[in-house]
Amino acid sequence: AALSAPLRPLAGLTVTVSAGGTREPLDPVRFLGNRSSGKQGVALAAAARDAGAKVRLLAAHMDVPPPAGVDVVTVETALELREAALHAAADSDVVIMAAAVADFRPADVSGTKIKKRDDAADPVISLVRNPDILRELVEIRDAASRNQLIVGFAAETGDADGDVLEYAAAKLRRKACDLLVVNHVGQDKVFGQDSNSVVILSRSGSEPQEASGSKTDVAAAVIDRISAELSRVVP
Ligand code: CTP
Ligand code: CA
Repeated sequence: AALSAPLRPLAGLTVTVSAGGTREPLDPVRFLGNRSSGKQGVALAAAARDAGAKVRLLAAHMDVPPPAGVDVVTVETALELREAALHAAADSDVVIMAAAVADFRPADVSGTKIKKRDDAADPVISLVRNPDILRELVEIRDAASRNQLIVGFAAETGDADGDVLEYAAAKLRRKACDLLVVNHVGQDKVFGQDSNSVVILSRSGSEPQEASGSKTDVAAAVIDRISAELSRVVP
């Protein structure tokens, strides 16, 4: 008979999950956003809760409500998410960055509504880079030699220069997180859907692992994989 996995493999652990999409304001009524629904992040938070963890959900804009039984911190922008993530990570055993973080934000935010004017040129939006939260989390963890598992997500399409797995492997090296959950994005796939198909890449070099099904199924597979990685590194 196969060894059965523990019923609550994350009992006693604190797991932070970011979910949804950040919104970067242009003025008091407008923002730059993205299509992340938050469904996969919410499913991960629920799966971590069911695995026995104390869960903190860092919720950027989501189309779905947060699950019961988790602590929720609501954020709007990438900079707010960064603050919340660095704070929550300080005492988390696992950090899962499932949020779609805006890579850029408007360089200038107008304090008043931007008006169109017939006597002026059309406006141009200048953007500045947001910090890479995932990279920063890994750097802080490594500098402190903390025992913390950090998981990134990536949506890739592949293009003429490389396929999805090549881009994903490069991203895993660049981000230096422990696991990277990779979505293959095609037309009409992933965003807002209830099902998902992913490949989980590990920095420890173990074989890429595929998981597909509902976002709940995928979340369970990711949490299983996290539990397995933790039992490898924790003596
Ligand atoms: N991420 C982050 N901070 C950012 C951008 C992304 O923490 N400013 C995290 C995401 O939450 C995700 C992972 O990094 O877990 C990968 O995001 P992705 O957008 O795929 O990576 P990028 O490095 O931004 O690469 P790309 O140029 O392909 O968008
Ligand atoms: Ca990005």
